[in-house]
Amino acid sequence: MEPVNVAVIYYSTSGNVHALARAVVEGARKAGAHVRLRKVAETAPAEVVDAHPAWARHHRDTAEVAEAGHGDLEWADAVLFGTPTRFGNPAAQLRQFIDTTGPLWFAGKLADKVYSSFTASNTAHGGQESTLLALGNTFYHWGGVIVPPGYTDPVQFTSGNPYGTSAVVGDAEPGEVSLAAARHQARRVVEVTAALKAGRAA
Ligand SMILES: Cc1cc2nc3c(=O)[nH]c(=O)nc-3n(C[C@H](O)[C@H](O)[C@H](O)COP(=O)(O)O)c2cc1C
Repeated sequence: MEPVNVAVIYYSTSGNVHALARAVVEGARKAGAHVRLRKVAETAPAEVVDAHPAWARHHRDTAEVAEAGHGDLEWADAVLFGTPTRFGNPAAQLRQFIDTTGPLWFAGKLADKVYSSFTASNTAHGGQESTLLALGNTFYHWGGVIVPPGYTDPVQFTSGNPYGTSAVVGDAEPGEVSLAAARHQARRVVEVTAALKAGRAA
């Protein structure tokens, strides 16, 4: 059977979600998937980005990461979306990309794919679940198959978010538990997608 195609589409201002995205890529590749890592376009004005050293640095450091396009969504059997928690919601930059997908949705091209999501926030009760659930609203509209990590691996009992990998970062970067949860989530997405793909091909 053809390998599963996984698109990891994310937005990151200062690198935390990008670190999770790279762990997701690692987990998906290890599970045998073909993987595309894609950032969404920055929509903040350049002078705003440049006024924040961490933001400007991360923007420069990830200049080589290709930007997400509709072709990536069409190509993918499964898409994992990553976003910082912004006042309990996904970042506007990711929403901006999602809000361009009307024509794909209308043509039925987003239906029946597997979707999953991950996030980072500064605080433990800072809105991670509401962010992931808000992204989930879109997956319902697309007719997607939502695959959350649940408590399907021992790491989930430590990382603690069945809705999707969620790093509490504060001043630090995502730690090993969060990265392991991200790898697990990706593996689970690949396994479920492979089973769906095999079933549809039978
Ligand atoms: C406008 C804005 C809103 C934010 N809202 C929240 C929030 O609701 N809860 C929280 O814990 N952190 C919040 N944060 C912090 C980010 O979620 C956190 O720094 C995250 O790790 C950023 O990910 P990144 O490094 O990939 O950009 C907010 C940050 C910004 C800039």
